[in-house]
Amino acid sequence: MTQVDVLLGLQWGDEGKGKIVDVLSPQYDLIARFQGGPNAGHTLEFDGKKFVLNTIPSGIFNEKTMNLIGNGVVIDPIILKRELDNLKAAGHDPVAKGKLVIARKAHLILPTHQLLDAANEQKMGKDKIGSTLKGIGPTYMDKTGRNGLRIGDTTLPDFKDRYNKLVEKHKEILSHYDFEYDLTEKEAAFFEAIEFIKSIPHVDSEHFVNGYLKEGKTVLAEGAQGTLLDVDFGSYPFVTSSNTTTAGACTGLGIAPNKIGNVYGIFKAYCTRVGGGPFPTELENEVGETLRQVGHEFGATTGRARRCGWIDLPALKYAIMLNGVTELIMMKADVLDGFDTIYACTHYEHNGETIDYMPYDIISVRPTPVLKAIDGWKTDVTKVSKIEEIPAKLNEYIAFLEKELEVPVKYLSVGPDRVQTLELN
Ligand code: GDP
Ligand code: IMO
Ligand code: MG
Repeated sequence: MTQVDVLLGLQWGDEGKGKIVDVLSPQYDLIARFQGGPNAGHTLEFDGKKFVLNTIPSGIFNEKTMNLIGNGVVIDPIILKRELDNLKAAGHDPVAKGKLVIARKAHLILPTHQLLDAANEQKMGKDKIGSTLKGIGPTYMDKTGRNGLRIGDTTLPDFKDRYNKLVEKHKEILSHYDFEYDLTEKEAAFFEAIEFIKSIPHVDSEHFVNGYLKEGKTVLAEGAQGTLLDVDFGSYPFVTSSNTTTAGACTGLGIAPNKIGNVYGIFKAYCTRVGGGPFPTELENEVGETLRQVGHEFGATTGRARRCGWIDLPALKYAIMLNGVTELIMMKADVLDGFDTIYACTHYEHNGETIDYMPYDIISVRPTPVLKAIDGWKTDVTKVSKIEEIPAKLNEYIAFLEKELEVPVKYLSVGPDRVQTLELN
């Protein structure tokens, strides 16, 4: 029996998961998204074209690969329909090709979940999470609060009654906020999208994925967000509302822990964060601005400027431990091409101590990063296509990271396009 490989982000999201899942997808029979929702924006580039996927797994452009939206995902039908309409307009129709299925147990994001997200963020003012306003938090709250509606419910005769019952509850909560809204348009779009989504096959993801494994087929689980946004282990409360870690692949697809194979941990050669919350290595200066401009660090979903900083090794070690990472994937090395010197945070100074782990409270006391200077490679690596062409100083940076993190770097990404990817030894 085969096992499920997992690919997930080790930082605060936007590491380049979409690109690499697309690159790896020819090796897999099934790509399965296991958590998050349209708060995700996964970018893929090939043949001069660029696509951003929110809900749809990033294996969709590979001819032979099946794609599953797992039970751990929260689905906004309006956004999913829009994603599929855009793909169709660009000549890709995974539904017609029978390459996309959805878990019956995946929860639905209602228009009122988005309103609740927005009302809550507005009320929090400067303390807001900086959510993507896609209704993620309120939808997962209804899931764990046992109120939620699921994809499988859409085919029940009393779906509309169930919907109305939940919306009444939401309206009651909204009445306590100073928040104006008009649901009419959104509601019409929601029901139109629900009808459309009925045309995508609904499956029980637990049986679907385990069936693939039983037949000896290969499966890659695609994470969204990143480890430091995990609801249990991230920089709480500045996190998302799902488990973004390997454990989330088990609950988000219905697979047992002993079915997990390789765990690919993906990270940028530096670090970014979008939204509020602590970020020990953040550079609120010209260097941060250079990383943002060179790396085009603007959100794929919301367009917001991403905060930028140096690579954070204590945070990466923590993420590797939590996920059981077996192979690392380093992205966006090219963004550092122009730097004479780059820096890596090896430790933190925190409450008078030097530590190499993430302490419980990094919010009221911001840890001071202890930085190690590293020579830059001062070479354009975007056209490097063979490992022999990798500049020596970049190889030294990779060797340094492998030694610190005790996990090999298997892939190196030197540009946004599919072809700008190198497999290392
Ligand atoms: P995801 O959410 O993890 O899939 O990542 P995003 O798509 O949100 O953000 C990654 C961004 O970096 C996208 O704009 C990608 O096209 C781009 N990207 C991915 N890999 C590289 C790389 O190696 N170099 C550069 N310059 N850009 C990259
Ligand atoms: P991908 O999959 C980066 C951040 C938001 C906010 C916090 C909570 O593209 O890497 P939410 O809408 O989930 O309630 O927001 O999490 N966030 C992301 N940041 N990449 C993402 O996804 C993100 N999804 C959510 O900015 O700080
Ligand atoms: Mg993204």
